Amino acid sequence: MSNALKFSHIPTDTPTSAADREAILAKGGFGTAFSDHMVTIEWTEGRGWHDAQIRKREAFKIDPAAAVLHYAQEIFEGMKAYRGEGDTVTLFRADQNADRFNASATRMAMPTLPQEVFVEAVEQLVRIDKEWIPGGNGSLYMRPFMFADEPFLGVRPAHHFVFCVIASPVGDYFKSGPKPVKVWVSKEYTRAAVGGTGAAKCGGNYAASLVAQAQAYENGCEQVVFLDAAEHQWIEELGGMNIFFVQDDGHIFTTPLGTILPGITRASLIELARSKGITVEERKYSFAQWQADVASGKVKETFACGTAAVVASIGEVKFDGGSFTIGNGESGPITNALRDELSGLQRGKIADTRGWVR
Ligand code: COI
Repeated sequence: MSNALKFSHIPTDTPTSAADREAILAKGGFGTAFSDHMVTIEWTEGRGWHDAQIRKREAFKIDPAAAVLHYAQEIFEGMKAYRGEGDTVTLFRADQNADRFNASATRMAMPTLPQEVFVEAVEQLVRIDKEWIPGGNGSLYMRPFMFADEPFLGVRPAHHFVFCVIASPVGDYFKSGPKPVKVWVSKEYTRAAVGGTGAAKCGGNYAASLVAQAQAYENGCEQVVFLDAAEHQWIEELGGMNIFFVQDDGHIFTTPLGTILPGITRASLIELARSKGITVEERKYSFAQWQADVASGKVKETFACGTAAVVASIGEVKFDGGSFTIGNGESGPITNALRDELSGLQRGKIADTRGWVR
């Protein structure tokens, strides 16, 4: 099926002018501007994937009864295209995004897309919109997603889906730029329970995080930290990223997979750190222990990581009843070293020996 899938090209006849594009790229920020094109591929029950197109980015015409609008059958991915030296453009571990996309699809009773079609779709969009990749520290954030657009109100897996890729030129995810962020620990809301959809990258997980994320903003924080759903004591992940802790002996650890998103940045950092001789553990860690370890100086650094955020130092932690500062509140040496190494690889500035960069 996948080998038979040919992409038809219908480029926009109203491309953004170079001057307008430059003005948009100069603004930076995250997720507010979009490139000229998109990729769409449709899936129909009994027929499979068909009608792969690279075309003008435009609004979908969607039936008000489309299943996604009622039962949220939707998944997405996040990945970036980077502008390197000369005319080089790199993608980082795109195959991993394809695999995770398919794991999410399976959990959400949606069709899987062959890995090579997923990667080809992303590459086609990067190629046609490569002028939209910002230089410097910016990148073109690629957002592959899939939704159920069959008009049907019965509750069952839909019979028609649209896979789409759009692209957004981005700078730093956080408005504060590279400065350490503040996080709010939610004791009221949880994100995912065992057997739920926590490991799937589905829109519903993010929708359910928003009320807690709004509380984080109200408390002057950029991100929310979720604790586990059963005991409300084990740290899981942030609203949109995974979390790592650095001990005073240089060892690092992160929370285990299961109910959290299996971050590609998370997995890459584990591998990079181990190859630098750093001991890395994946283990349960309670909020109370985090507080105690920061107070005693055992935990010196904590950072968030994800495609959008890359590696972002956490400087301050707030919760209902108090707050604490991690180390001196600044980005620490291990956080900085891992961020530099990962970014260097992603941007083609450090030689890739693992086949992560294409
Ligand atoms: C990403 O890091 O790509 C994500 O999907 C997280 C989202 C909060 C932007």
